[in-house]
Amino acid sequence: RVFGEAADASNSVAAEIASLIRQRADDGEQCILGLATGSTPVRVYRELIRLHREENLSMKNVVTFNLDEYFPMKPNAAQSYVRFMNEQLFDHVDISPDNIHIPDGTVTPDRVTEYCQQYEDAIDTAGGIDLQLLGIGRTGHVGFNEPGSEQASTTRLVRLCEITRTDAAKDFGGLEKTPQLAITMGVGTILRSRRIRLLAFGEHKSAIVERSVQGAISDSVPATYLHDHGNVEFVLDSAAASKL
Ligand code: GLP
Repeated sequence: RVFGEAADASNSVAAEIASLIRQRADDGEQCILGLATGSTPVRVYRELIRLHREENLSMKNVVTFNLDEYFPMKPNAAQSYVRFMNEQLFDHVDISPDNIHIPDGTVTPDRVTEYCQQYEDAIDTAGGIDLQLLGIGRTGHVGFNEPGSEQASTTRLVRLCEITRTDAAKDFGGLEKTPQLAITMGVGTILRSRRIRLLAFGEHKSAIVERSVQGAISDSVPATYLHDHGNVEFVLDSAAASKL
């Protein structure tokens, strides 16, 4: 779906999420959301906050699982995704802190494998993700599933590509201070979500959007794995769609 402006695209996705949350609440059920960080989903979160404040949208029945976190990472560090999510969404709505899940960047290296399995189990126990929000990195990564990731991959510790680290370096005050590793949901984890909405805005995303949408399924562009999903939308502004 292509919108003239990123704001309209974001509002449309926020409206879909709000409608799902309300539908589940009416049925007395929880709504399980997979959430993403980065600059792209910020406007979706801003609109959800507006709907909460102005249109009675409650997030009490919402359970969230974030895609990824740098490793190692302290939750209160400026660059942590815990901090990002609190500032951009959670601090402004009525979600229960018990319902928020973000990969823990403080787990000791010897416990990471076990921790990642627990993260997978927690998603399953919650009933699986109803709607997964995604951004896309310049390498075609979703979450932090870089080129070479397998389609069946699950939550795990990964090594970040140089391009991804370069894009993140401004937040860390230089490439040498940027983490080499991250914990990310796997491609397989993402593909198990019932709906997937990938957002990409701006001219700088147009080349990778073109390769993701029009290229063959390949581990060299992990976003192409989404072709195999039955309910996925790329939600774009006209600049990101300009090469399609
Ligand atoms: C990071 C995140 C991804 C995100 C990407 C793009 O790598 N882990 O989830 O999609 O950045 O970020 P932005 O939306 O700022 O372009």
